[in-house]
Amino acid sequence: MAIRIERRAASTQAQGIEPGYAQTARRWPSQPLALRPHTPSELSGPQVQRCLPEIRGDLAGYGERRALGQLIRLRVRVADEDGAPLPGAVVEAWHCNAAGKYIHPNDSHDAPVDPNFYGAARLVAGENGLVELRTIKPGAYPVPDTDGWWRPPHVHFSVWGRVWLSRLVTQMFFPGDPLNDADVILNAIRDPEARGRCIARLVPSKTSELIYEYQLVVRGRKASPGLP
Ligand SMILES: [Fe+2]
Repeated sequence: MAIRIERRAASTQAQGIEPGYAQTARRWPSQPLALRPHTPSELSGPQVQRCLPEIRGDLAGYGERRALGQLIRLRVRVADEDGAPLPGAVVEAWHCNAAGKYIHPNDSHDAPVDPNFYGAARLVAGENGLVELRTIKPGAYPVPDTDGWWRPPHVHFSVWGRVWLSRLVTQMFFPGDPLNDADVILNAIRDPEARGRCIARLVPSKTSELIYEYQLVVRGRKASPGLP
């Protein structure tokens, strides 16, 4: 079976070592990336990731265990390069609480931990490639040791598609946030259209939750750009 893989335009990808984002110097590959197509055995071999169970499809909680913040629902569709849904794709999501604080020992931001908010979930896409996460809208937070860089509200995603090699680690942003325009990570993608694909779409809601739709494309021309 011939496998068609198109090289992505550089402007749709993060630019690598980014001024103002010190960690990129340690994280970005020092050698040029090599295009390596999946082999037939990789595409047809055991799909261990599909054995992973879902964990916490609801980060917001209810009643006395309800996390603080604006209730939101993320409807995320996982698709391949041809737009076909990827049932069984494993989607891990994590984000900070409404005050901009992660539950992580490395988070030194002077903001309160929400005892009712854990901040991480693992979801498995259904037959239509959809995952849904009920949660609260994350807050903005300052990046330590920078000259006033604040991360806009965002959700981190890690996706495994058909095989382990089809892995995408990216971030989803919220439409209309003024901090988007100055975010070093989002703007490490120079192509405005590609940046736009990292921003969710707010759709009408008649419930108590704001609903955002987003698409994660594991490979292909319309793939969500990877971030450092
Ligand atoms: Fe973050």
